[in-house]
Amino acid sequence: MTETAEQVEEQAVEEEIDLTAANMVIDKYLDMNGNLMPVLQGIQEEYGYIPEATVHLTAERLNVYASQIYGVLTFYAQFHMKPRGKYIVRVCMGTACHVKGAGRIGDAIKDHIGVGHAETTEDLLFTAEYVACIGACGMAPVIMVNDATYGSISVQKTVEVMDKYIEMG
Ligand code: FES
Repeated sequence: MTETAEQVEEQAVEEEIDLTAANMVIDKYLDMNGNLMPVLQGIQEEYGYIPEATVHLTAERLNVYASQIYGVLTFYAQFHMKPRGKYIVRVCMGTACHVKGAGRIGDAIKDHIGVGHAETTEDLLFTAEYVACIGACGMAPVIMVNDATYGSISVQKTVEVMDKYIEMG
């Protein structure tokens, strides 16, 4: 059973989420078949993640069970249920990078910005993710910050790269 509009509103207040953008995304796909995925993708684009209140709003407006939406969200790795940092720091933990000290790079990041795998700094500047091979083994160990790749990286260089992004804010 889906929830009433009042309940949806209540939850939005609790999370202090402005649902205007989510409603606009839903409006756009409302009459389309198979609209759940594009709606969720659109919501994530707007908010950077899928706030819980938008799950309930989507359930109500698309007339699907919230549990069905949670099923989709947990199945597809592309969806995030928590806010993420402005900078996503991917640390490759694939074999080549592992052999060349990726563990130390992960530790250096944790020491310097305080987050390990799947954690986000409180100021929402960084999210760290340990990932499988990102296809640049020739320059192992490798990290990525958003779309920028940093290869043959040392602990020292990692700290410098993190500082650069801290400075940029
Ligand atoms: S193992 Fe790290 S890029 Fe391939």
